[in-house]
Amino acid sequence: MESISVGLLGLGTVGSGVVTILHNHQDKLMHQVGCPIKVKRVLVQDLHKDRNVHVDPTLLTTDVNEVINDPEIDVVIEVMGGVEETRQHVLSSLRNKKHVVTANKDLMALYGPELLGVASENGCDLFYEASVAGGIPILRGLVDGLASDRITKLMGIVNGTTNFILTKMSKNGSPYEDVLKEAQELGYAESDPTADVEGLDAARKMAILATLGFSMNIDLQDVRVQGISAVTDDDIDYSKRLGYTLKLIGMAHREGEKVEVSVEPTLLPDTHPLATVNNEYNAVYVYGEAVGETMFYGPGAGSLPTATAIVSDLVGVMKNLRLGVNGRSAVSPQYDKKLKSDSE
Ligand code: NAP
Ligand code: HSE
Repeated sequence: MESISVGLLGLGTVGSGVVTILHNHQDKLMHQVGCPIKVKRVLVQDLHKDRNVHVDPTLLTTDVNEVINDPEIDVVIEVMGGVEETRQHVLSSLRNKKHVVTANKDLMALYGPELLGVASENGCDLFYEASVAGGIPILRGLVDGLASDRITKLMGIVNGTTNFILTKMSKNGSPYEDVLKEAQELGYAESDPTADVEGLDAARKMAILATLGFSMNIDLQDVRVQGISAVTDDDIDYSKRLGYTLKLIGMAHREGEKVEVSVEPTLLPDTHPLATVNNEYNAVYVYGEAVGETMFYGPGAGSLPTATAIVSDLVGVMKNLRLGVNGRSAVSPQYDKKLKSDSE
């Protein structure tokens, strides 16, 4: 290939990080994929907005068809967020034989099996490493790195915004509303931060992790969720005095065919490794029958860390192209079993 053409859906926090990495790491990327990567078109809402990254203004469009129907675009990178409209764009892209890389956990938690099925039917890759835990390569870690093991439990901090809020409330005594605003300004929070603070974002990520870790189709509605919006300064002070740290913990546990997945504020002893994960950082403990315990740690949100995962997925698409194995992604498990809840 002389070059690879990319279409971006979105140029916000994550999209601008993608453009930055494609520019700053172009030599390394050229070496990895064997040809230059060109951004051909970028979908935005507002053509005249001030951007913190330089993109040729003639590449910007508000018409999605100029991206997903452009025959010259090989890969669509979806970083616009949202679910129903975005699902249609991703489906159209795949049916137009474009590989897709997405950071969208809402989309993957709700429609992952459908989208991966359409990707496979069309011989396309659909990669979504950035959808869970930002810059931590946790999905590949689970699916490839631990391919030989049987995973029994996943436990972690998978939302950067709430961890940032709890850290600042606990360490600096900062008011909840002020820290939430700061997390929004830093680009960690979702456009509607309700999903962060009510635990829904973490629940979606835990559903994806458990689906991949246990090779079962985990339904989002089976995840028990409680967020941090009701946590008070008193709760934090009291836990500190007792030697505990309050964290929003995602847990997925498998016993036989039975799986339980939850997200809830949890008191951890100050000495617990997850108690020391601060600010927007995430960490996931993975328990495997053979490996025992492993812990994945790193930045869980933010422009460049998240974009690293996306551009690495893009490299993965290119490597598959070279091998002629697109559409047979390792990061798409057999959705062969449904979650068995206690009531079954
Ligand atoms: P963002 O800063 O709000 O950026 C969204 C971008 O998409 C903007 O450029 C916006 O255009 C464009 N856009 C949104 N809706 C659109 C529409 N209907 N039509 C055309 N363009 C549209 O969001 P973000 O933080 O980059 O997040 C993007 C995705 O990545 C989300 O799925 C999010 O959950 C996921 N994610 C984010 C992070 C993070 O740390 N932020 C980490 C991991 C995953 P304008 O710029 O013109 O408004
Ligand atoms: N809003 C998300 C978070 C972005 O705070 O973790 C990363 O997925």
